[in-house]
Amino acid sequence: MKALITAGGRGTRLRPLTNTQNKHLLPIANKPILHYALGKVAQAGITQVGIITNQEGREVKDALGTGEKFGVFITYIPQDEPLGLAHAVKISQDFIGDESFIFYLGDNMVVGGLEKFIDTFHKNKDNCHLTLARVKDPERFGVPEIQGNRIISIEEKPRVPKSEFAVAGIYLYDSHIFEAVHAIKPSTRGELEISDAHQYLLDHGFQVGYSEITGWWKDTGKPQDILEANRLVLEHTAAQNLGTVDHRSTVTGNVVLESGASVVNSTVRGPAVIGRNTIIENSFIGPFTSIGHECVIKNSEIEFSIILNDCEIVDVSVRIEDSLLGTGTKVKRSQGRPRSNRFMVGDQSMIEIS
Ligand code: DAU
Repeated sequence: MKALITAGGRGTRLRPLTNTQNKHLLPIANKPILHYALGKVAQAGITQVGIITNQEGREVKDALGTGEKFGVFITYIPQDEPLGLAHAVKISQDFIGDESFIFYLGDNMVVGGLEKFIDTFHKNKDNCHLTLARVKDPERFGVPEIQGNRIISIEEKPRVPKSEFAVAGIYLYDSHIFEAVHAIKPSTRGELEISDAHQYLLDHGFQVGYSEITGWWKDTGKPQDILEANRLVLEHTAAQNLGTVDHRSTVTGNVVLESGASVVNSTVRGPAVIGRNTIIENSFIGPFTSIGHECVIKNSEIEFSIILNDCEIVDVSVRIEDSLLGTGTKVKRSQGRPRSNRFMVGDQSMIEIS
C-alpha cells in the first residue's frame, strides 16, 4: 500500500499567515502540521509516500527532504494549479500504479492510528473506504447520506446536509478511483471534487464502505481550528526540560522547554511548549500556548496562542489570548509621544484591541 498526502492548495482562509508560508508548514506544538500526517502514515508501515505540492513547493521539499528522517521515501508530485482533490489523485496515477493507497489531506489532524481503517478497508474488500466524523457544521465538508449502514450519496458542501457527518480527509482506495477521477467534470467552482469521484463510484456499483472516527479529528482550515489542534496536541505532550529555569520562576503542568530556552522570573503554566533559544522574562505563559524558536517575551502575558519563530513581545500590558502571530512579528509598548497605537501589518491581518 502507498500513501498520497496533499500539501498544495491556496490556504486562503489562513491569510495573512499563508501569504508567506505554506499552510501545511504552520506549527502545531512547534512541529509543522505536515509532520503529523507523515508520522501517521509511517506508523502504519507505509514507506512509499507521494506528496502533492503547489508552485511554491520548494519550502515543503526543504522541510521534509527525502523522507528519510520519518522512515519513508517521498516522491514530490507538483500540481501546477489547485484544480481540486480529484485532480490531485489524477496526476498521481503514475506514482500509485496498481496498488491500493491511502489519500491523506495534509491539513487534517486525527488522534489515533490509521491501522484500523486500513484493516477494515482490506477485510471488507472495499473499492473505496471513507472515514466519517460527526460535526456541528457539516455544510463545510463533503457530507454522506446514510441508509441502514450504507452510504447512498455524497454531496460537497451542501446547503442542506443529509446527515451530521463530514467525510474526513483520510480516504482509502483501490485503483478504480482512477476511473472515477478521469470521468468526472469540474464543479461550478472549477475544481474536480473528490466527493463527485465518490458519487461516481456509488453510481457505478463499486463498494464504498466507511469507518466512523470516534476520537478527535480536525480540518485545520481556519485560525480557530489551528489553535484548537494546538490545544489538543499539547494536552497529549509529555513534559521535557532541555532549557533553563531560574529560581524565581514557576513551571507547572506539562511544559516542553526546547534546547537553549530560558525562563527568568516568570510563570509558565502548561501544557505549553517554548522553542529553542527563546527567552521568557518577567512574563506569564498560560496553558495551550506554543512559542516558537528564537523569540523574546518580556513583561507580557500570553495564553492559548501560537507564536511563530523570531517574534518579540515586550511590555504588552494586556494579556494576549486566542492569537496566532506570524514569523518575526513584534508587539511592543510604544515609547514615543504622543502615546498612540502604531501598526505595521501585512495584507488581510486581523487586530482586535481592548
Ligand atoms: O477536510 C475534509 C474535507 O476536505 C472534505 O470533507 C471535503 O469533501 C473535501 O473536498 C475537502 O474540503 P476542503 O474545502 O477542506 O478542501 P481544501 O481545499 O481545504 O483542501 C484540502 C487539502 O488538499 C489541503 O491540504 C490543500 C490540498 N489541496 C487542495 C486542492 C483544492 C491540494 O493539494 N490541491 C488542490 O487542488
